[in-house]
Amino acid sequence: MPTAGGRSWTWSYEGYDAGSERLREALCALGNGYFCTRGAASEVLVGPAHYPGTYAAGCYNRLTSTVADRPVDNEDLVNLPNWLPLRYRIRPADAPPGPWLSPDHPQLTEHRQDLDLRHGTLTRWSVYEDGSGRRLGVEQRRLVHMGEPHLAALRTAFTAEGWAGSVEVEAGIDGAVRNTGVERYRGLADQHLRGWETGAEGPDTVWLSCRTVDSDIRIALAERLRATPVRGVAPRPRLTVLRACHTVLLPVTAGATVAVDKTVALYTSHDPAIESPRHAAVTCVLQAPHFRQLLASHRRAWDGLWRQARLEVPGEAGRILRLHLFHVLQTLSPHTAELDVGVPARGLHGEAYRGHVFWDELFVLPFLNLRLPEVSRALLDYRHRRLPAACHAAREAGRAGAMYPWQSAGDGREETQQLHLNPRSGHWLPDHSRRQHHVGSAIAYNIWQYGQASGDTEFLHGKGAEMLLQIARFWASVAAWDPGLGRYRIRGVVGPDEYHDGYPGAAEPGVDDNAYTNVTAAWVLTRALELCRSLPEAHRRQLFEQIQLTPDEPERWDDIARLLHVPFHQGVISQFAGYADLAEFDWAGYRRRYGDIRRLDRILEAEGDTVNRYQASKQADVLMLGYLFSPAELASVLRRLGYPLDDDTWRATVDYYLHRTSHGSTLSAVVHAWVLARVHRPDAWTYCEEALTGDVADLHGGSTAEGIHLGAMAGTLDLVQRGLTGLETREGALWLDPAPLPQLSTFDVRIRYRHHWDIDLRIHGEQVRIAVPGSQQAAVRVRLRERSFSVAPGTARRLDLPEG
Ligand code: BGC
Repeated sequence: MPTAGGRSWTWSYEGYDAGSERLREALCALGNGYFCTRGAASEVLVGPAHYPGTYAAGCYNRLTSTVADRPVDNEDLVNLPNWLPLRYRIRPADAPPGPWLSPDHPQLTEHRQDLDLRHGTLTRWSVYEDGSGRRLGVEQRRLVHMGEPHLAALRTAFTAEGWAGSVEVEAGIDGAVRNTGVERYRGLADQHLRGWETGAEGPDTVWLSCRTVDSDIRIALAERLRATPVRGVAPRPRLTVLRACHTVLLPVTAGATVAVDKTVALYTSHDPAIESPRHAAVTCVLQAPHFRQLLASHRRAWDGLWRQARLEVPGEAGRILRLHLFHVLQTLSPHTAELDVGVPARGLHGEAYRGHVFWDELFVLPFLNLRLPEVSRALLDYRHRRLPAACHAAREAGRAGAMYPWQSAGDGREETQQLHLNPRSGHWLPDHSRRQHHVGSAIAYNIWQYGQASGDTEFLHGKGAEMLLQIARFWASVAAWDPGLGRYRIRGVVGPDEYHDGYPGAAEPGVDDNAYTNVTAAWVLTRALELCRSLPEAHRRQLFEQIQLTPDEPERWDDIARLLHVPFHQGVISQFAGYADLAEFDWAGYRRRYGDIRRLDRILEAEGDTVNRYQASKQADVLMLGYLFSPAELASVLRRLGYPLDDDTWRATVDYYLHRTSHGSTLSAVVHAWVLARVHRPDAWTYCEEALTGDVADLHGGSTAEGIHLGAMAGTLDLVQRGLTGLETREGALWLDPAPLPQLSTFDVRIRYRHHWDIDLRIHGEQVRIAVPGSQQAAVRVRLRERSFSVAPGTARRLDLPEG
């Protein structure tokens, strides 16, 4: 793990280690919500140790590959032309030029890298020494501008020691890129770009443009290269079909420092208010200010963002949480509010899961709702624009309403792969994860939560209601009455635990009566009914007409919301019907044999067995219910369904699944930490630590190098913001029920609630303090366990935590 370097805002990496470079690249990626670039060194090419990738939010392309003799389509987040390249070599006045240098070169003697979270910069210091005592010190700082989302910049300063002559620099934009960042996808089509063109504009600017093969998105990057402080040094453009670059000779004397500034602009044809991406990129880079000014405005933008997103947690946990917040803000920034994009599960940091959008927004939006609600709204708009596609998918499947895809990307059709590779066995296997229709409930949950936190009734009653009602309608069309059972059932689905995609030996995939799916479906139906009731009469009529909702539909919803089947066994909620009949898994034996058994599915398949035979889950499934709902709310949904849930049953349920889960998804540790903290169990901290270190320590064996886990990162932030505070926004009030962990009992979060910006919520051991900043708004109503009070703007309230 990188060191703190004595500064809690800086992640420092001492020395150079080619073996962990790809992980560093993901953790040191810089972005601004519009685009993101991995923290690869500027001197390197793609290879086993390096993967310099740049991704623009929402820039996807579809290609057809042949897998197991079948054509398969995959839509990928496209790796864009690489703007990083900048290499250099020593040209002594009295000897022939040295080799091109890079951290992989044996002449490297010192190397250090700092990721400065406060200012959003990545700085590398390297020293090279040739066999004749000539030393070259290199300091390189980069930024992806948080205020000007199309701009990035790289300053490289060279200091000569023990020699004089010049440093030869070559800097450019490389269009010869493919999507080859994930080993498992090798063999699939990876050439997403075509139609490259390059050109020069004036003495110091070059550009490269191209387009995506199928989605036909035009992309352009322009580079300006300037030497500083030397004057009269002109870069020479060098253009080929796939590369636009400059070379420049920087004269140096012993002990002196010279620098080159590379400023880059990136545009695509998705951008509004431009003539063409090329014209926009060239104009932007020509008009861009000097590096120093860019750095200053970039820092100001980050200062503002950190003020809005403040979260103070002491110690190592706080340091990791700040890194998580940094990456969440780099993926989903205020610029995201202007884009048509969803929440990419792996950030914009790599190519795992092809940049697709899953249910992971369930772990992200509740956090953003109370920080950057306009970003949450834009992410929900992404879903709303794809409502027709979801309705079409439902119709095609013989259902009503909206069936949102498990994996979404460009136009909202189902993007889940048909086959996936088990790298252990080399087998391509059918992928049934598209049966995770619970993604619709996640969207509905987020709509509701956003409405509660922001008070944005215009959205809730408009686009929000349209989606929520169509999702409810889908559930109603899937739920089938079982006369024998006297209940409705939802069959043939996959729950959050993807390991169970069918019954052992069954011809058809899917499981029946998945408790998570059914309870959340019942919740959606209940909310849809509540929303229908709360809509103003004229508005309701209009909406019902628009989506052609007949009066008997809500009546049926009510019936289903009371009579969906939830299976139980041995006094606990069953993950699905028949879970109890599956064999117990030999956890200890497999741990002994394999060590890390998170990906049990792959281990068992490679052994010729299947995880479907066992009571062994990939991730929290039933326990997700304790993540989404407070105990009171969960008890109320289940009571309505006719299943009284007491504390003992819930505790027994928690215990049961805790021992039957492999945590093969990073989301699992977040959920377990949350659920265990809420029931005051001391082992909550174990899961909290796992959730915190999942990415920084790469607990999932190489997967972080392919992209950070955005859901888990945001989930850990929300664990503090809502999990440990017990914060809920409902009935026009802030509800608090703190459950701090002994290891995490002092923290400070700042939230935006409705019209109140910057409400400060501090938990300090046994005390809670709420401060509402001065404004013309009404007082904030607070419920703290049994107590109810108001905090007027400009005042603060400090209370001892009641026992409980
Ligand atoms: C998890 C899913 C998750 C996906 C993307 C999978 O490993 O099982 O729940 O949505 O990763 O993060």
